[in-house]
Amino acid sequence: MPAVSITPTDAALGATVEGVDMRTPPDDATIEVIETALETYGVLIFPNQIVTPAQQVTFSAALGPLELTANIDARLDGQPEIFVVGNTGAKTVTFAPKAGSDDLEWHTDHIHRSEPSRASLLYAKEIPEEGGDTLFACMYSAYDGLSLEDKEAYGRLEAIHSVAGLRAYLRDQAEEDEYDPGRQEAMPESVTWPLVRRHPRTGRPALYFGAKITIGIRGRSREDGLRFVRELTAHATQPAFVYRHVWRKHDAVLWDNRRALHAATPFDMERHRRLMHRTTLRETEPVA
Ligand code: OGA
Ligand code: MN
Repeated sequence: MPAVSITPTDAALGATVEGVDMRTPPDDATIEVIETALETYGVLIFPNQIVTPAQQVTFSAALGPLELTANIDARLDGQPEIFVVGNTGAKTVTFAPKAGSDDLEWHTDHIHRSEPSRASLLYAKEIPEEGGDTLFACMYSAYDGLSLEDKEAYGRLEAIHSVAGLRAYLRDQAEEDEYDPGRQEAMPESVTWPLVRRHPRTGRPALYFGAKITIGIRGRSREDGLRFVRELTAHATQPAFVYRHVWRKHDAVLWDNRRALHAATPFDMERHRRLMHRTTLRETEPVA
């Protein structure tokens, strides 16, 4: 195994990993280093990776089973495990609000599926000159920052998640009639998970929800549930818990969907191009 160096950010999560070459599949020792670093830091930044889609898929698959995006039109031709995120193709795929808005879609990938995602790897092929950063918030910190009473109360709550919440948000953010979800694989109407989730590797409790994809709290009215989610988002994504990733071309960022929420920030889509390739690792441990 080559020498790997790991440099933590000064935020609540995140570290830069150097000495890993994603063009070749990782050996067992490298996998162990990556998994341990992911467990420790939650978000790993691998700069200067020049990889083909096939190499990204092979590298990702060495870490565990992959999931395809439900957005059939956003699967890369010939390499369907790659989810194409950006504004360079026939259809724009974005999770960001409209330019100028700070109503972010904080989320964790595939929470609305019966098998969510353990981790995601996002690779920057083209980045805008400004904007288009990705924010990551530590849900261990968010949980730890609750009062004792709230920890107890939230530990009994179940949150309801649906892709309908994400769609409604994206429709709101799009210019008139511009939102087109494209062909989509069918997903359950909603799934319900405990709001507080114990990380299967570390045992630490983490909040598990999304700002828009979480559409309610079991046993509460729609309005109360949405208000609760709004307030929880404000608590959970306060600056002290957040790492902001300002992308450089050829960065690959791997994050733990069980610990981190993430949010895309806007950029001027008329003027700039942004193209990212995501591979998605399936959750292999029970959520509840
Ligand atoms: C994703 C995602 C954020 C971004 O690919 O899962 O949320 O900044 N991307 O593109
Ligand atoms: Mn995402």
